[in-house]
Amino acid sequence: MPNKILEVKNLTKIYKNRIAVDDLTFDVYEGEIFGFLGPNGAGKSTTIKMITGLATISRGDVYICGYSIKKNFELAIRQLGGIIENPEMYSYMSGWDNLKFFANLYTGITDERIHEVVKLVGLENRIHDKFKNYSLGMKQRLGIAQALLHSPKLLILDEPTNGLDPNGIQEIRRFLKNIAHTQKISVLISSHILAEMEQMCDTIAIIDRGKLIEIKNIDQIRKGIMGGQKICFKVDYPNFAGKLIYNKYKLDIELAGNNVIVPCEEAMIPSIVQLLISNRLSIFGINTLTKSLEEVFLDIIKQRSGSITIT
Ligand SMILES: Nc1ncnc2c1ncn2[C@@H]1O[C@H](COP(=O)(O)OP(=O)(O)O)[C@@H](O)[C@H]1O
Ligand SMILES: [Mg+2]
Repeated sequence: MPNKILEVKNLTKIYKNRIAVDDLTFDVYEGEIFGFLGPNGAGKSTTIKMITGLATISRGDVYICGYSIKKNFELAIRQLGGIIENPEMYSYMSGWDNLKFFANLYTGITDERIHEVVKLVGLENRIHDKFKNYSLGMKQRLGIAQALLHSPKLLILDEPTNGLDPNGIQEIRRFLKNIAHTQKISVLISSHILAEMEQMCDTIAIIDRGKLIEIKNIDQIRKGIMGGQKICFKVDYPNFAGKLIYNKYKLDIELAGNNVIVPCEEAMIPSIVQLLISNRLSIFGINTLTKSLEEVFLDIIKQRSGSITIT
């Protein structure tokens, strides 16, 4: 079992009489990319602010590498690198000079370490350009480089892909994966965009209206997708075919034009084909339909909390 790097226990935030974050409990393990997914206003930023010490905690606690953010703030925060809002940089200074400036705020950060983080975020070729000439994606990457300078065990990024073009998003995804999996740094990343999280995260937690709705690892999600599989048979007499299949297997059949859609695994195709052919039906096509990740998540959310949409 990998080490727990972050433990969030019963974390709650109350603004006046409004609950923004409601009793969240979850763990993030070493080298894991943990996605925090939820619509706007779900409580992602508030949670992240409490984890990073930028907002007070109403109830519960946060442990970073075992240190309580309430009781051992200094030790806890030392293990953490975070970007909550757009990183403040000096626009007339180069990327390198900006990093050098931040490095001087700590002790013991060598030029070698600065080179290392520049390489990690893939800015080697542009690091001596002025910050103001960077693209938004490069600015984000420099911010992440800065957050990595002191070798934290946990990197926290609040919607880092906001405003980036697809290329920029893909770059961030690629190097975050690299950082997490080769440097064994855990990454907690928030987003309201499902498709982004799916391609980057090992674990996804869904939060809505301050509450944790579901935590799943990507393998479980993929299994959920396979579990939602349907086989579509195109036949000449779909009503008749549907009745035959229903009578034999008692499965919930759907009809669509000449298609009979059967919720079953591929392993059942031969016996269904045999049933149809032995009843003199003609088969014109067989397709496997798998649910998309989007559908699986919408199912999860609908089951738990009525109707919200994640865009
Ligand atoms: N400083 C604040 N005072 C009062 N309410 C706040 C404050 N900050 C956030 N909220 C409320 O808390 C809820 C969660 O907000 P937030 O954490 O920013 O969500 P997200 O980051 O998921 O979009 C929202 O309803 C928001 O209006
Ligand atoms: Mg937010």
